[in-house]
Formats: sequence, C-alpha cells, structure tokens
Amino acid sequence: MRTPTVGGNWKMNTTAASARSLAAEVAASCKGSKAEVSVFVPFPYLAIAAEALAGSAIKLGAQDAYHQPDGAFTGEVSLTMLKDCSVSTLLVGHSERRHVIGESDSLINAKVLAGLEAGLEVVLCVGETLDQRERGQTDAINAGQLALGLAGVSAEQMSRVTVAYEPVWAIGTGKTASAQDAQNAHKAIRAMVADVLFAGQVAQGLRIQYGGSVKPANAAELFGQPDIDGGLIGGASLKAADFAAIVAAAS
Ligand code: PGA
Repeated sequence: MRTPTVGGNWKMNTTAASARSLAAEVAASCKGSKAEVSVFVPFPYLAIAAEALAGSAIKLGAQDAYHQPDGAFTGEVSLTMLKDCSVSTLLVGHSERRHVIGESDSLINAKVLAGLEAGLEVVLCVGETLDQRERGQTDAINAGQLALGLAGVSAEQMSRVTVAYEPVWAIGTGKTASAQDAQNAHKAIRAMVADVLFAGQVAQGLRIQYGGSVKPANAAELFGQPDIDGGLIGGASLKAADFAAIVAAAS
C-alpha cells in the first residue's frame, strides 16, 4: 500500500506573520495524520515556517530551486541554501513555472536531477492545458512531460519522486477534473512509468497526487480512486481548517 501524500502549495501568498501562524496551525491540525504532509512555502518565509514546524511530522518544501550549486545566478536560490533552511521536499515543474515563467522541460529535468542528487524528495508536476485536453492529447502531454522530466533518474531514486498530475485548466479555477477523468490520467501515468520509463515495481510504489481545485467537499471522492494517492493543494491550503479536512480525507 502506498502512503497517501498531501502537499500545500502556498504559491506567492502569506506574510512573515501569516506564514508563521499558518505553519503552526497546519502542524497542530494535521498532527497524527496517516498521510505524509508537506507545505511549500515562499522562499523568504522558509526559515520562519521551519521554526513553526519544528517537532512536527510536517515536511518543509520549496516551490522551486536552481540546479547549479552556487555562483553568478542573480536572483536564484540553490539547493544548499534550501537545505540550510530545513527544506526536505522540492516542487519542480509546476504549471505556473512552465506556462507563466516559461520553464522548459530540459530546465525542469535539470532541477529534478539536482534535487535528487542533493538528497531531497522531488514532486514533479505534469498536466495538460484545456486546449490540449479538448484535442484528446492529455495522456500524450503527460507522457512527454514525464519522460523529459525524469530523464536520467534511476529506479532507486524514484523512491524519492512523487508525480503531481495537475490539469492546467483546473488550477485555481474552481473547475476540478471529475474523479473518473483524474483516475484515467493517473492510471495512464502509472502505466507509462511501468511500461516505458521504469518497471512495474517502481510504478506500483510511485505516489501520484492530483492537483487542481481540490477542496474539502471533493477530496474524498478524488482520493478514493485507485491511482490517486493524495493531492497537491493550492488555494485551500491557505486555510488551515480546509487543508486539515483535505488531509483527513487522504488518511
Ligand atoms: P489550486 O492549486 O488548488 O488552487 O487549484 C493547485 C496547485 O497549483 O498546486
């Protein structure tokens, strides 16, 4: 059985004060959960959140990182810096990084490899746009992003990888994929990992989160699907009570 996993992606939200209180509330309200829980905190507040999470089982995550160890990369943040701030989990290839900031599959792959090399857990996000879905390209887009994003990752390293399937049209829009549509995409992702990229054993152990307008009201149905192993939560992760209800639905 795969341990369910739920991440809270705070995106570019919170202040120093609200990051501290939200982290403390998440630690308290998710205490004892059977799901693995992480929060992806904006860079400036990582150290603050780390303090608030100390002694809890909640993992501290970063929303991005640069793959080079140090040097002339103005504005970027290295994996060493993140580890100094107690980060254990790295989000890579979120659709906002792909489609708003313009990150390529090859940059995303470099970040995946560097994150794993640094000993972190990595959550690789994949997902199709509305246009791609309407053209029937969902599985092909996911397969392409997976193959390019995971190039060079070993089967052994896959134990530290989680895939987040996040249809772009469902993120922050209030539109959720139906549980059946999400299940179909997850099943195809697992089959791709089993048949093309790695092997059945790696695929069976791989956790695949669903993301895109997950709320307390729809979480249980989504997480009840056989290939959905938890969620990556944006908007609803900013309210500790909603996030805790979603975590409870995964547990
Ligand atoms: P949402 O965001 O829950 O607000 O749709 C999900 C995500 O971007 O990870």
